[in-house]
Amino acid sequence: MKPSIYVTRKIPDTALQLLKEHFLVEMWEEEETPVPREVLIEKIQTVDGLYCLLTEQVDQGLLELAPNLKVISNMAVGYNNIDIKAASNKGIMVTNTPGVLTESTADLTFALLMATARRIPEASEFLRQGQWKSWAPMMLTGQDIFGATIGIVGMGRIGEAVAKRARGFNMEILYYNRSRKMEKEAELGISYVELNELLQRSDFVVILTPYTNETKNLISKEELLLMKDTAILINVARGGIVNEAELYEALVQKKIWAAGLDVFEQEPLPMDHPLLTLPNVVTLPHIGSASIKTRIKMAELAAQNLIHALTKDTPQNLVNKDLL
Ligand code: DGY
Repeated sequence: MKPSIYVTRKIPDTALQLLKEHFLVEMWEEEETPVPREVLIEKIQTVDGLYCLLTEQVDQGLLELAPNLKVISNMAVGYNNIDIKAASNKGIMVTNTPGVLTESTADLTFALLMATARRIPEASEFLRQGQWKSWAPMMLTGQDIFGATIGIVGMGRIGEAVAKRARGFNMEILYYNRSRKMEKEAELGISYVELNELLQRSDFVVILTPYTNETKNLISKEELLLMKDTAILINVARGGIVNEAELYEALVQKKIWAAGLDVFEQEPLPMDHPLLTLPNVVTLPHIGSASIKTRIKMAELAAQNLIHALTKDTPQNLVNKDLL
């Protein structure tokens, strides 16, 4: 008998077909709405594998209900939605989808940086609202990108890909990372500095670090106050890395110039959120990796990870390597 798996969202067809070749598949058929918790609780009790998205909280309580579960395949590179320690304690493998989304996420990072610096959403709205009376010397003026200093917090794959783009814009590239990446410095033209120095010197501070207990609220009031009043903060990693209430205050008090945010502490962002009242904040609905090709690749890789984990000895893209 084939192993059984549960897929928590409607996924691209090619990925679903791959899964069906190996498993008895049940899927939450909705595309836009997450699986209700009670449905997940019911399904997890019998399956051998779980294919989930970053919208599912896979916590210890849920894992306690899953006697047969051997693998959780997350269709994302980030896995802060999964209690890795609890999974490891139960011998459950966790896999993610690194690599395939690097370039698309770096593209979006740069698009958001440029949109925020040059006020593109605001300018577009200005025109549509009939406010464009005449070309005017200082109308909708923003910050320069070419030749500016960018500070990348988190020099992983996506950080490197952003650095390559920044080089094309003749930017000075500073980075801060848990461990210094000497071997990459000459190749990418990047310079390592401590976080405080990065915050003080950068025109653009770009957050690309994973969300962990150590990076929770990494950018709070104290850090925001170190930034230049002309600086722009870009977050495409996870909402909880930046303290949103303190970011709001810094923006209102003009301690920093603007922010471009693709991720939030609470997603979807509530429509009455104070950040939405500020013209100098560009907000996106967590679309860092959202190109058609990349999302299909992520879905397929998550399927392959599940297949490897349940049918072969060495799963690929294993997060909790302590299980090996
Ligand atoms: C991830 O993969 O972690 C992104 O946030 C979504 O692509």
